[in-house]
Amino acid sequence: MGFASVKELLCKAQANGYAVPAFNVENMETVQGVIQAAEELNRPVILQTTPSSVKYAGLDFFAACVETEVRKNSVTAALHLDHGSSFELAALAMKAGYSSVMIDGSQLSFRDNMDLSSKVSCLGKILGVSVEAELGSVGGKEDGLTAGEVLFTEPAEAAEFAARTKVDSLAIAIGTAHGFYKGEPKLDIRRLKEIRNAVDIPLVLHGTSGVPDETVRECIRIGICKVNYATDLRNVFTKAVKLNMAENPDNIDPKKYLGAGREAVAEAARDRIKLCYFK
Ligand code: 13P
Repeated sequence: MGFASVKELLCKAQANGYAVPAFNVENMETVQGVIQAAEELNRPVILQTTPSSVKYAGLDFFAACVETEVRKNSVTAALHLDHGSSFELAALAMKAGYSSVMIDGSQLSFRDNMDLSSKVSCLGKILGVSVEAELGSVGGKEDGLTAGEVLFTEPAEAAEFAARTKVDSLAIAIGTAHGFYKGEPKLDIRRLKEIRNAVDIPLVLHGTSGVPDETVRECIRIGICKVNYATDLRNVFTKAVKLNMAENPDNIDPKKYLGAGREAVAEAARDRIKLCYFK
């Protein structure tokens, strides 16, 4: 497989003060849109799939589809399982060729989250796959699941969690939420600084769609190394498809309206790649 190591991408980002954008992909067109943007800007990207996308199209489909596009365009890209819901799914993703997995034990107790994340981290080390875990709980709705209230990450717990689980990166809760925001999100920047001082592994920001660019830049300056975008891409893809259908009511060729969606994804991905690599 020609996928990059997320651990290496993020450590490089951390050392150089930028972040690697991670885009949720759901079908061939979103994969191609993201890869097209990465190719044009010559920047590494992470493509990631949630359990519901995996259920929809399969781990092997995404591994083959992303690998085909990566090879064709010679871009540096990694394939990551987002919000892995069980040890079994994380192991299956590793077997399918994903170069990175997230194990999301954020709804478990601190101890149980630590146990589950340690198990996945251990398997990842054996197989050379990077592992991300989540501590605290990013709120909102992701993948049909409502995580509910944001449960902020405690810096001291983050330090203990990172040391014990030996995960490669940590998703933290500092006020972002998945999905659309009702107002402007208020991020706890002081907490981010405290976590950054307490933990030395790369930190991940979830729920970034709708966070103002300047706030994203500030988070990256403080030490966020991976920035996740899902809702923004879904939104532009669907809007472009709907518009194309409305403008061409007699068209029955899916390539036409899905192609419009692909272009919209490429444009949105370009903007966010530029933002993350602002240095
Ligand atoms: P958004 O849907 O808010 O962009 O969040 C994406 C995300 O964090 C995926 O894990």
